[in-house]
Amino acid sequence: MAGGRARVAVSILDADHSNMAYAIQRAEKEGADRFHVDVMDAHFVPNLTFGPKMIQGIRPRTQLPIDAHLMVSDPLPFIDGYLDAGCDSVTFHVEIDPAQVEPTLRKIRAAGRAPGLAVKPKTPLSALEPYRGLFDIVLVMTVEPGFGGQEFMKDVAAEKILAARELLTHAPADGEVHVDGGVNRESAEFVGGLGVDILVVGSVLWIKGRNMGREIRLVRALADEGYQYRLNDGKPPIPRDAMVQFSQLPKHLAMRFMGEIEAGGIPVIPLRGSGQFNPDGVRDYDLLVPASVAALTEERHGVARDRYLAEAGAWRERYIAEFGIKPPETTRPQPRSSATRTGARPAG
Ligand code: DX5
Ligand code: ZN
Repeated sequence: MAGGRARVAVSILDADHSNMAYAIQRAEKEGADRFHVDVMDAHFVPNLTFGPKMIQGIRPRTQLPIDAHLMVSDPLPFIDGYLDAGCDSVTFHVEIDPAQVEPTLRKIRAAGRAPGLAVKPKTPLSALEPYRGLFDIVLVMTVEPGFGGQEFMKDVAAEKILAARELLTHAPADGEVHVDGGVNRESAEFVGGLGVDILVVGSVLWIKGRNMGREIRLVRALADEGYQYRLNDGKPPIPRDAMVQFSQLPKHLAMRFMGEIEAGGIPVIPLRGSGQFNPDGVRDYDLLVPASVAALTEERHGVARDRYLAEAGAWRERYIAEFGIKPPETTRPQPRSSATRTGARPAG
């Protein structure tokens, strides 16, 4: 997976529709972060594309997430088809019949996928307010929906992208703002500077003779550059995949604490890291969390961590009183004079 924070969702709208399996495999090889599939019903927009059967067909061709962008008037009666097809997220437009919006969002969430709402360029973000808490994605359209290859609307991006984040405060770790329409090497730095998470890139990737991989990398890098200089005090953005240490605990306590943290939606990696050896001969486990949610983890679990550390101290004392101290477990060759290990060894 790419470093940095911006992610590119490859739109297959302008790929060769007679050979979608190839298009998907090619884009994955070229470094796409995920796929964006534009469903159009010739009613909500003046164009017709594909439906759940096509998505079902490409699903087994890639491991990457598939985001569906439904530009359709009636998502509700068809929503099961898109969920069954294996979409990881389904985003539809807030401009449809209002009676369908809430039940459709609820169905998507009930299926364990990310629900999203999209806004056309002329629709104000306030249209999303009534549904706050029911969606995890805000898709800001920077062209009129319907066709690839249109010109990027900078004023729309400027007005909505930062503000869209405010609508996702219930989902600090996994809420996403997507920008869709006219995103390319000219506009990437600007939208990155507004903190957009997902850049939907379509037509420019499918131009004959274009080096797709280089284009994806360029858009991503420019978006991160924009973020670094406009929102992040000139510091490079935290790579989403970087993990930082949250706590070090004896294994049994580490596993219990990990369960509590993960129950709140924050992923944890337990590693036998650099911590002290315990009297049972097993080294403390490092609990790692994504750097992008380190502050949130601290806020939610900082107090519990102190409690766990105290419990670890008490456990060590009890263990020593009952069993003494075992020599440290050695799973890999240790350096000859390892000063770090001696502290945990039985005295004498
Ligand atoms: C337009 C679609 C977009 C389209 C973007 O209605 O929603 O996803 O594929 O294509 P480009 O990048 O060419 O604007
Ligand atoms: Zn789209």
